[in-house]
Amino acid sequence: MTNHQTIQNLEKLLANSYVLSLKTQNYHWNVVGENFKSLHELFDAQYEELADAIDGIAERMRALGSKVEGTFENFLKLSKIKSGDKNFSKSEMIQDLVFGHELIVTDLKVAIKVAQDEGDEATADIFIGRIQSHEKAAWMLVSSQ
Ligand SMILES: [Fe+2]
Repeated sequence: MTNHQTIQNLEKLLANSYVLSLKTQNYHWNVVGENFKSLHELFDAQYEELADAIDGIAERMRALGSKVEGTFENFLKLSKIKSGDKNFSKSEMIQDLVFGHELIVTDLKVAIKVAQDEGDEATADIFIGRIQSHEKAAWMLVSSQ
């Protein structure tokens, strides 16, 4: 298959997105303090968005002929994003989530070029869409501080 590197980039995106989605849900459950309700709801909406995206990323891998290693062990092994901390303050939670979104965007900018070089414009399009979503999520998090 000519888009071998792109399949690996999809797998990395899947792992990073999965860990970030669980972290976002963790913070939805554990956030406390001022703005509790708005942050609780923002984290919920962002968790839902990530869950939808994860399904699309995994199904793109299937469309390209690759099986999906959908296990926690694999996701933790491949993810650059680490698990969340339930005891973080709300500012630390926001900072941690923004860091995760930015890390994914940085990887995606490289992955887009690789996908285009491999002639896989459809996956490049998915990557471009994900950048838009992660940048929007980061903006909403920063603005809610
Ligand atoms: Fe909930």
